[in-house]
Amino acid sequence: MPLLTQIETPALVLDCDQLDANIQRMRNKLAAFNVVLRPHVKTNKSLEVTERLFAGGRGPITVSTLREADFFFEAGFTDILYGVGVAPNKFALAAALISRGAQLKLVLDNLDTARLLVEFAQATGHVFDVLLEIDCDGHRSGLSPQSPLLVEIAQLLSANGLRLSGLMTHAGKSYDSQSITQIQACARQERAAVIDAGQLLTSAGFNLPIISVGSTPTALFTEDLSGVTEVRAGVFAFFDLVMAGLGVCQVQDIAVSVLTTVIGHQAEKGWIITDAGWMALSRDRGTAKQAVDQGYGVVCDAAGNPLGDLIVSATNQEHGIISSRSGVLDPLSLLPLGTLLRILPNHACATSAQHAGYHVFSEGRSLDYWPRIAGW
Ligand SMILES: Cc1ncc(COP(=O)(O)O)c(C=O)c1O
Repeated sequence: MPLLTQIETPALVLDCDQLDANIQRMRNKLAAFNVVLRPHVKTNKSLEVTERLFAGGRGPITVSTLREADFFFEAGFTDILYGVGVAPNKFALAAALISRGAQLKLVLDNLDTARLLVEFAQATGHVFDVLLEIDCDGHRSGLSPQSPLLVEIAQLLSANGLRLSGLMTHAGKSYDSQSITQIQACARQERAAVIDAGQLLTSAGFNLPIISVGSTPTALFTEDLSGVTEVRAGVFAFFDLVMAGLGVCQVQDIAVSVLTTVIGHQAEKGWIITDAGWMALSRDRGTAKQAVDQGYGVVCDAAGNPLGDLIVSATNQEHGIISSRSGVLDPLSLLPLGTLLRILPNHACATSAQHAGYHVFSEGRSLDYWPRIAGW
């Protein structure tokens, strides 16, 4: 393997020791509760990272695409929750995976999809496991925990031989929190939503084996998971600047970064130009609404130490523009042409998705190259 300093830039690099530490932190947190970790592998989309999440084993996973489901099933992961509301044009692919032996669980939150799934199941003879999605915070999709549709959909599914496996929710609003106290309030709300919806369904006679919650902020700061059976979180394995801005992790906990090379200067503007533009960093500006706007990423030296208050302030497709956040530093003297830098990402999922794989290193030494899958 080449040394980290010999890798062609831009490149996605992954600090294996930090990855392991982040995984251990989540495992330690959840050990206090009677829950299973069903990590969301959409962050990593990599067999090697996902294996590390289970210390080499094959535990339950959450996926965001059926492409991921197929890839991880082929690699021996059988218990798979497809965590996005299923579209009718994906029923056949889901059925094919189930026929091959996957314990695939689908998510839906409306009567129309439920009816279409029932029709498909009747026409093809397939049986599906379904989780109903609950909206715990108005962030995105899901039924309200009090919705009468919950029982109506459950009855429709079970009357037609489909299995209602349980409930799931995702506290997406936790990403807008201003404090750990607010994250804890989101975690309480997330749990309460599925517990309330679950009571409605159990009093109507339904058995719910799976009660699934999870986001990285709520999972790491929850104080009560009673009644919950599993936690889905994904970005915790890598962390990113959005998580650091929330106080969920420290900047030094971020395990992924983009290796880049200084290719020029605009001295009069106080700019350093690099070869990592938005193609390498993504256009994610997730920290823009936080107290500290990190531009397109925090600039570190090749060893991963942040360089003063340098950030990537602008990007073109293949150019990154680095400047000082405060405007007082003269960075040009620090960073000659050819200098290798590492950029910490705003959003680990989005930045990683720009790359075909991870250059994995440990204690500054390259270990391996772990490919990622892409597409749907
Ligand atoms: C349905 C669902 N579950 C779990 C997660 C994982 O949350 P996080 O990225 O905060 O770890 C996500 C992330 O978007 C999600 O959409």
